[in-house]
Amino acid sequence: MADLSINLAGIKSPNPFWVASAPPSNTAYQCHRAFEAGWGGVVWKTIGEPIVNVSSRYSSIDINGSRMIGLNNIELITDRSPETNFREIKECKERWPDRAIIASLMTDSRESWHDYMKQSADAGADGVELNFGCPHGMCERGMGSAVGQNPDVIETIVGWVMEAAEIPVIVKLTPNITDITYPARAARRAGANAISLINTVKSVTQVDLERMCPEPYVAGKSTPGGYCGPAVKPIALSMVQECASHPEVGLPISGIGGIANWKDAAEFIALGSTSVQVCTAIMHYGFRIVEDMIEGLNDYLDRAGFASVNDLRGKAVDTVQRWESLDLNYKRIASIDYDKCIGCNLCYIACEDGAHQAIALVDPDQKGVGLGPGRLPGRPVPEIKEKECVGCNLCSLVCPVHECITMIDVDNGKEKMSWSDYQEKVAKGEMEPIPAHP
Ligand SMILES: Cc1cc2nc3c(=O)[nH]c(=O)nc-3n(C[C@H](O)[C@H](O)[C@H](O)COP(=O)(O)O)c2cc1C
Ligand code: SF4
Ligand code: SF4
Repeated sequence: MADLSINLAGIKSPNPFWVASAPPSNTAYQCHRAFEAGWGGVVWKTIGEPIVNVSSRYSSIDINGSRMIGLNNIELITDRSPETNFREIKECKERWPDRAIIASLMTDSRESWHDYMKQSADAGADGVELNFGCPHGMCERGMGSAVGQNPDVIETIVGWVMEAAEIPVIVKLTPNITDITYPARAARRAGANAISLINTVKSVTQVDLERMCPEPYVAGKSTPGGYCGPAVKPIALSMVQECASHPEVGLPISGIGGIANWKDAAEFIALGSTSVQVCTAIMHYGFRIVEDMIEGLNDYLDRAGFASVNDLRGKAVDTVQRWESLDLNYKRIASIDYDKCIGCNLCYIACEDGAHQAIALVDPDQKGVGLGPGRLPGRPVPEIKEKECVGCNLCSLVCPVHECITMIDVDNGKEKMSWSDYQEKVAKGEMEPIPAHP
């Protein structure tokens, strides 16, 4: 059994799995349920001046029958009073002393930030998370992403917060910005102890063409909301990696965005996260998903020979580099396993119309592969034209059969040469420019 316990800037939890600040972390009742299921921490639904919400509030994207691949919401922060929230945080912390409880905060004035910081510490919270991320509603009032999009304002507000900070401060960043390291660096300059990312991506998910109005529909109008769930995971992973690798950020990271299982979590940790937070997957499947997450992460760490989850942290960060450092001479090509191929020829169409015309259709008898699983007599099978294949991966991505098309390395005898090396060699006259394809 690997050690799953973590310590993020002084906030300890028995495992890296935290409930993100959102509807699942709205009440003490839910916090108890989350901890009973095994979550290591809960980031409370953002506390601030209680708001009034609209009805309806969510919309989503389904893809080929898979529901809620992306979830959009126009919900605001908590609609409950700070007194109620802090009282319930205290009650939860007393009952679950070994778990992490983080108070998520959003307010505007310096005095108010000081007041919430004191109330958070008095309630026994292990830390606070500053919500500079909501891309709807609160930003119109000068909070949420209106702060997260302006590094100078972040620096000022985090500065105020740090004046009153008795417990660790995590700054939650918005992805609705060109370069995530600017706000991350501003948080660092102002003395924050950690960052968390991402909050939701500004979005309109769908337009109801009968009513000529997007969802979520509110009495004839809608508003852009915050997008989350599996669809945003690639954006979140990239931003986490950027922060983890930037020398001027240098803060512990709580990774958030589309995490639904142990593998998603392990990927965020390999790219530099200490803890991971989950919202949409809990809204979809409930708190008990954490049981599989804990078991799966444990099994993976054991299999991979990591004694602790901390040994995995950041292991993949340095492999993500600028394009110019990639080896132009590395070559891989597609390879088909005919024992698995069902003869659907999706790979052929994809390569022929959408890639590099590197797949031929051939007679299976001629190829000596006979009838495979589900292949009909007389139907051709795909064959990779190895010389034409540029190794783009497309056919392996569209093939519906698991591991039927794999990508294999080809030894072409060439030495490693990056775009930077190439530029240098050409400039020095050590090689001729590579001619363009005809
Ligand atoms: C309905 C809803 C309400 C949310 N409310 C908050 C909030 O009050 N404070 C906050 O920091 N983030 C809030 N979030 C954002 C989540 O904490 C999280 O950053 C985001 O959903 C990405 O994680 P996920 O892909 O696991 O959902 C909310 C998300 C949803 C879907
Ligand atoms: S997509 Fe896969 S299963 Fe379909 S023909 Fe190509 S290799 Fe075979
Ligand atoms: S890897 Fe790309 S180029 Fe090669 S066969 Fe597949 S789709 Fe065609």
